[in-house]
Amino acid sequence: MSEICNDKLEYKNLIHGEWVSSKSGKLIKISSPVDGSFIGGVQAVTKDEVDDIVQFSKANFDAWSEVPIFEKADILYRAAELLEEREEEIANILMMEISKDKKSSISEVKRTADFLRFTADAGKSMKGSAVSGENFPGGSRNKLSYVKRVPLGTVLAISPFNYPINLSASKIAPALIGGNTVILKPATQGAVSALHLVKAINDAGLPDGVLQTVTGKGSEIGDYIVTHEGIDFINFTGSTEIGQHISKISSMTPLLLELGGKDAAIVLEDADLEFAANNIVDGAFSYSGQRCTAVKRIITTDKVADQLVDMLKVRIEKLSVGDPRENAQITPLIDNKSADFAESLINDAINKGAKIVIGNKRKDNLIYPTLIDYVTDEMEIAWKEPFSPILPIIRVNNISEAIEIANRSEYGLQSSVFTNDINKAFSIAEKLEVGTVQINNKTERGPDHFPFLGVKASGMGTQGVKYSIDAMTRPKAITVNVTDHTII
Ligand code: NAP
Ligand code: G3H
Repeated sequence: MSEICNDKLEYKNLIHGEWVSSKSGKLIKISSPVDGSFIGGVQAVTKDEVDDIVQFSKANFDAWSEVPIFEKADILYRAAELLEEREEEIANILMMEISKDKKSSISEVKRTADFLRFTADAGKSMKGSAVSGENFPGGSRNKLSYVKRVPLGTVLAISPFNYPINLSASKIAPALIGGNTVILKPATQGAVSALHLVKAINDAGLPDGVLQTVTGKGSEIGDYIVTHEGIDFINFTGSTEIGQHISKISSMTPLLLELGGKDAAIVLEDADLEFAANNIVDGAFSYSGQRCTAVKRIITTDKVADQLVDMLKVRIEKLSVGDPRENAQITPLIDNKSADFAESLINDAINKGAKIVIGNKRKDNLIYPTLIDYVTDEMEIAWKEPFSPILPIIRVNNISEAIEIANRSEYGLQSSVFTNDINKAFSIAEKLEVGTVQINNKTERGPDHFPFLGVKASGMGTQGVKYSIDAMTRPKAITVNVTDHTII
């Protein structure tokens, strides 16, 4: 067995370059949401161990920050290669640990290798600037400020269950290239996959203590690490509930938060409906709706709603439901609690008069793709993030009402507008209170070098390769003041 775990699949943490078990002696059992099979055990790290991990991070910060960027980039290039060499192994673990279909699991690993390379390239393109004092009233060319970006220190990266590889790497790599040391706290369900990612990055030649991991339940160890005085920046992706909690307790520690969403697809009367239906089904149901950027509501007018509903129904009927190993598109949800929540949203909508077009079937934690028409604003599904394959349709009278309903959400991640009128698309896009508007496309994060951000309850700060490096570094100005003019 590899150093990352023993032959009983008891996984260890990477602490100061060594894979070690926790002194707690406590292992958290990770079972597959697909068939209940044993994926592995992860360590419940103690508070004392967190103290040691943070101290190692601090001790190794200066040396790492001084490593030339091209050497840091070489490590990321090598990590990308290792990830690709281990693609099949890691994708198989991912598939069973978080119930993601095989094709999407492979694509998550590939996308992450690309992300590592792109981050290395972006790091090598980082440059400083020189600002002359003479541009500001009363200033003088005797002052010249050399401005460059420097790391923040120790970054705590906290990732969610749904993209344990990609959303861990999208924090780790920009933090490292910026010169920070990193501690990763992965989601417990997803931790085994994330530890394999960390192993690939570490095997690429990172010095000891530059990247370390803390596994354990967020409810037990989360508050302790988040409020640890040695943490200089928290980069969190997860639910709005936990994000807001972290923001309350973390005091002066700067934060980047990627949180929940309720992305709307607004379909105008002049849209290419076949195209919109294809896009919406893909956007709403891939990975069974467990994406922050999933299309989580359709807003349209009566004039096209019936036709659109028919087109959506035909496509949803064709979605394969079942086992991710057989590449089913709709797979069991991450746990029973999530399926209970999904079912409660469907029942609430039915009780308040909504019409089920297709779906409303459950087998354990597997929720069949469900389309709900005639959803009104009293229904929970109009506002809550289902994180499951449920798609509500809200019928409105006109574009103004569509914008009003879209903006009434507490969330503000993305929105789509489907129309053939580019002028209308732009004017609607200007009015939508979200981080990104997709014109004639499903809502989605990628490509990963685009700015990715949420407003309102969807987050704080901006991710995306260059934006993430900027977020985890700060400007440092060194100003030269020429005072002696005797030689002139
Ligand atoms: P979650 O329950 O909020 O957990 C996210 C992470 O926070 C996990 O690592 C979790 O660890 C940890 N955590 C829990 N309590 C903590 C605490 N008190 N202190 C520090 N960390 C703590 O979210 P999830 O269920 O994994 O992910 C689904 C949610 O993430 C959805 O709402 C989705 O929209 C959102 N998401 C947003 C984006 C985006 O980019 N905007 C991307 C992906 C997902 P444990 O697993 O050990 O509890
Ligand atoms: O769950 C949130 C991910 O960042 C979504 O990424 O839109 O590429 O699936 P994606």
